[in-house]
Amino acid sequence: MVKLNRRKFIVLGTVGAGVAVISNWLSQESISSQPLSQSSLNLSSLYQSSNGLLELDLEAKESVVDLGGKQAYLLTYNGQVPAPRLEAKPGDKVRIHFTNNLAQPTNIHYHGLHIPITGNADNVFLNIEPREKLTYEFQIPTNHPSGTFWYHPHLHGMTAEQLFGGLAGLFIIRGEIDEIPEIKAAKEEFLVLQDFSLDEEGRLLSSMHMSLMMGREGELITVNGQINPSLSISANGLLRLRILNASTSRFYRLMIKNHSFDQIATDGNALNEPIEVNELLLTPGQRADVLVKGNQEPSQYRLLNLPYDRGSMGMMGGGMMGGRGMGMMGGNHLDAPITIATINYQSSVQSLPLPTKFTTISALPKPEIVRSFELNHGMNPMVGMAFLINGQPYNKNSMDTIVKLNTIEDWEITNTDVMDHPFHIHGNAFQVISRNGQPESLLAWRDTVLVPRGETVRIRTSFRDFVGKTVYHCHIFDHEDLGMMGNLVIEA
Ligand code: C2O
Ligand code: CU
Ligand code: CU
Repeated sequence: MVKLNRRKFIVLGTVGAGVAVISNWLSQESISSQPLSQSSLNLSSLYQSSNGLLELDLEAKESVVDLGGKQAYLLTYNGQVPAPRLEAKPGDKVRIHFTNNLAQPTNIHYHGLHIPITGNADNVFLNIEPREKLTYEFQIPTNHPSGTFWYHPHLHGMTAEQLFGGLAGLFIIRGEIDEIPEIKAAKEEFLVLQDFSLDEEGRLLSSMHMSLMMGREGELITVNGQINPSLSISANGLLRLRILNASTSRFYRLMIKNHSFDQIATDGNALNEPIEVNELLLTPGQRADVLVKGNQEPSQYRLLNLPYDRGSMGMMGGGMMGGRGMGMMGGNHLDAPITIATINYQSSVQSLPLPTKFTTISALPKPEIVRSFELNHGMNPMVGMAFLINGQPYNKNSMDTIVKLNTIEDWEITNTDVMDHPFHIHGNAFQVISRNGQPESLLAWRDTVLVPRGETVRIRTSFRDFVGKTVYHCHIFDHEDLGMMGNLVIEA
């Protein structure tokens, strides 16, 4: 316990100093669009752009929220968990008047969006102190892919705690794929997956009581802040689910019992064509768009979360990090399959076909530059036990990876650790080229990829449009906060 505190203190101690200066809040009249109310499954409000502008006020604060019928004191954007859903189109301007009414500094990251990484845009080096305001302002590029993106805090050392508190919302870019007639006709639902750990009074368990080395998981699993909500599908119809894993560490292995479905997008990016799947693994940060065909016997179908073994600390972490006993630390606690939502068949509609083609993804050409990244954890002389990339814990001042704008690179990421690590790069999507030397058959754009323990994944990416400094990291945010992050500098 003592060691945990010391470690945590050191991590937190590096946060405040020397980060980018916040521009002044312009006290102009806010002309936010009015939030729209949503269906019973989606209780959070919705802000859509109009006339090329998405503008809203967003306030981070602790709020009392109804979580699966119980009062919970969570960290929220605009008092809601999940946070309001934002929707814009390629080419739109976005202006978010943000106020930090949390008790600690924070900022906002726009996960998966291809927008500027400097200034008051997708800049994770901003530090917005309690009671400070900042207006985020950026434009969605006109050629931006349409898809499922999201936003969440990203202040190194505090990200896990703030995300686990509930701070996460969808950021949808509407475009081409939404205009495909079959997709347009499908019923659309959004599923934000979050887990929580609360005491009897509904207060968040503090980081002290969590297994940070393993990555904190909550036993309460919610979909849009609800426990086992129900969804409906029309017999013969199509149901489009846009699923986000907004959990800090929990992986979701999803299946619809006795029902297949088709994946149509990986992270925020359409696939070439639908792919039938029985099971879908979503690591923290990942999204999937799927289509469920209402072609089964009309009945009730359960959306299950199956157990997943993401490794364990063995004996290493037991004494170091406390947690709720050795059960969570030493061994792996695998949950039984649980029902996280229920799908009900409704009156039948005219049969809707599955679309056959969404887009044409071109494979990035093989580059000359190949970089290697090794993920693991261990003792570091500077900070003690830490999560490491190439042997180093995160240092906000180091220029870990310097690349040139408009170049393509292969990154070979090897996980020599005893735990799985989902690897995420800000700003530019990538293609998986191979896993353990085996060529990847599915051509797809992603922004987060699982690198299982003991395995190697090669990805190919290009650094387009925006220069500046950003980051790559493990999307288990406890690992990121404990050092598994690096700086990426994109130079002109
Ligand atoms: Cu969703 Cu840097 O992360
Ligand atoms: Cu991100
Ligand atoms: Cu990790």
